[in-house]
Amino acid sequence: MTEQVTGQVTGLLAVEELSLGFATEAGFASVLDHVSLEIGRGQVLGLVGESGCGKTTLARAILGVLPRDSARITGGRVLFRGSDLLTADQVMVNRTVRGRAITFVPQDPFTSFNPVFTVGEQIMEILKWKSPRASEPPGRRWLPALAVRYPSDRKRADFDAILELLDAVQLPRPKQLLAKYPHELSGGQRQRLMIAMALLPGPDLVIADEPTTALDVTIQAQILGLIRRLASERHVAVLLTTHDLGAAYEICDSVNVMYAGQDVESAPVDRFFAQPAHPYTTKLLASLPRDDGTASGIPGEVPRLIGPPAGCRFNPRCERADGPCREVRPPVEQLEAGHWVRCYHPHRGAARDAARDAARDAT
Ligand SMILES: Nc1ncnc2c1ncn2[C@@H]1O[C@H](COP(=O)(O)OP(=O)(O)OP(=O)(O)O)[C@@H](O)[C@H]1O
Ligand code: SF4
Ligand SMILES: [Mg+2]
Repeated sequence: MTEQVTGQVTGLLAVEELSLGFATEAGFASVLDHVSLEIGRGQVLGLVGESGCGKTTLARAILGVLPRDSARITGGRVLFRGSDLLTADQVMVNRTVRGRAITFVPQDPFTSFNPVFTVGEQIMEILKWKSPRASEPPGRRWLPALAVRYPSDRKRADFDAILELLDAVQLPRPKQLLAKYPHELSGGQRQRLMIAMALLPGPDLVIADEPTTALDVTIQAQILGLIRRLASERHVAVLLTTHDLGAAYEICDSVNVMYAGQDVESAPVDRFFAQPAHPYTTKLLASLPRDDGTASGIPGEVPRLIGPPAGCRFNPRCERADGPCREVRPPVEQLEAGHWVRCYHPHRGAARDAARDAARDAT
């Protein structure tokens, strides 16, 4: 059972104490160290942290698309609808979960399209083998992709479903759009298409990995608003990885913070911004741009993941660190329903507000 205490969440996905790393020429990089998180149906969860903290690696572990040659999972579980995706029959997971019950919106939609086919051809090609119908006989359902028959009535139904979704993601004139090549679409249009494609199989969970980073600021806000609306309307859970706290504030119900491969704090979004408890979270919020446009980083450097610091990995940058912080990773402490922190000396109450102000003044 997860050590994490998660309040009201009803548990569609629960990552429990997941540890993994990569074999590199310089040694083993410990990229996730006993990381836990939980998402309920229809919930938008923000996974935030600085570059390199392991957000994409965690997303890839959930999707089951880690590089086979170098990735080593050393512990933990990825429970989806009660089944551990790490130990479940992978043929079954590929048929029912990956790309179906769990789908993905990438950071850069341009590289996800093949430049020599129209977007319509590419979407239909994916549907042709990705959405076998339960009514079809098993022998036909699981034929290799190239041999799958694509009956015209099903093709028509799939096409109608695509048009409905293009409308839902507010892409006007969808038939003309499907006849275009990827380079003929704007970045915002391509990302809307990616979101439509992610929703097409009727997933329970969409993992969106920095879905707006490659877009202009005004388009970013539109795409974030779209994700929020679709999650609510379709009751789809969204795991949004981002280093942009503003994006998390805009659309997330809850926020999980990671630092150097460790989870450090999780809270409902209002409480997260109003009452952060972990020293790293406090500094992260204090480093946000000020009203006068200035901004500054957190003093010190993110540790290397090959031979990282023992205990709490934030200890070399934390002025509250003492002996235990440098030896044993702190356990989870629940502060309120849905708000937990991993720290021996979290900020509390009035002292927390003073510390946040001091951190802001110092950075
Ligand atoms: N295949 C790999 N082999 C070795 N190291 C890897 C591999 N993939 C990721 N890493 C390392 O794992 C760490 C976490 O990377 P990851 O991409 O998950 O971070 P991130 O939080 O998504 O960062 P960003 O915000 O820049 O996208 C980094 O130190 C990265 O170099
Ligand atoms: S556990 Fe210790 S080092 Fe880590 S954030 Fe808390 S006080 Fe700082
Ligand atoms: Mg990433």
